[in-house]
Amino acid sequence: MSTPSKFQRTLVTSALPYANGEIHLGHLAGAYLPADIYVRYLRLRGEDVLYICGSDEYGVPITLTAEKLGITPKELVDRNHASIKKSFAGFGMSFDNFSQTSRDIHTETAQAFFKDLFDQGVFKQKTTEQFYSPSQDRFLADRYIEGTCPKCGSEGARGDQCEACGSSLDPTELIDPRNVQDNSPLELRETTHWFLPLGDWQAKLEEMIDAHPEWKDNVKQYCRGWFKDGLQDRAVTRDLGWGVPVPLPDHAGKVFYVWFEAPVGYITTTREWAAARGEPEAWRTWWQDPGTRLIHFIGKDNIFFHAVMFPAMLMAHGEDY
Ligand code: 2FM
Ligand code: ZN
Repeated sequence: MSTPSKFQRTLVTSALPYANGEIHLGHLAGAYLPADIYVRYLRLRGEDVLYICGSDEYGVPITLTAEKLGITPKELVDRNHASIKKSFAGFGMSFDNFSQTSRDIHTETAQAFFKDLFDQGVFKQKTTEQFYSPSQDRFLADRYIEGTCPKCGSEGARGDQCEACGSSLDPTELIDPRNVQDNSPLELRETTHWFLPLGDWQAKLEEMIDAHPEWKDNVKQYCRGWFKDGLQDRAVTRDLGWGVPVPLPDHAGKVFYVWFEAPVGYITTTREWAAARGEPEAWRTWWQDPGTRLIHFIGKDNIFFHAVMFPAMLMAHGEDY
């Protein structure tokens, strides 16, 4: 990735909303309305701008909601996607494209992104112990494990993150972990996964942040805190039935971690936009030309993934992004 001193175009993204329900006014006030206003301002100034978004459709909450409703996860996300899209249209949001991560084009984009990193030898394979729920006969995703935050002591920290202090967590770090659904006891079982060694990019990430005086102070403060602790390896695969399948032999039942594939969804929705215009390669200008400025509108709980993880993934991919 490079940071142009002058840019010729601006790619604006709003966090992909989870397709696990309807959107409400709180969503609009957060990552959507401000982005839409900003995009309209740039367009009025005659600047070259592309505003993209889409529904974030994988993850365990979707599976569980679908199970409760007696429909398939795909039926649920299609239904919610249509309703989210309609609500956004009703509010006059001016996305250039609004996609879905459960579409084939996203599977293809996310799998190709992973394969590129895999072939470069970027990932580390590790066998770890993960929480398994005997009562539900499955490995539990991070957000279905709750406990006390080891960093700030707050109760109700989720397995992936503590909302109270913003720390990114591994569920095994939680004190007194339990299944959020039924409070049942959990057991640790061995499973093998691929990890992104974020520490390999820490120095470059620190440089990137220093090179951006315009970034919000609170974002930089969070990042400096994570850098101080040292970035840890992050698993990018999971044992789940609903997700983008890991495109490797002998990986049945393994899918990508949502925070690995959802940010790639920004690239997917740009590709879909380009294909719809009959210029399938035009997405590259928005992602691979140093004259593009990328601006993410996100909520506070998404900072780690947009300021650390996704930039590290793009750096790992190489100079092309
Ligand atoms: O917090 C959320 O609503 C997430 N669905 C945002 C995802 S943003 C992106 F990376 F896909
Ligand atoms: Zn905490």
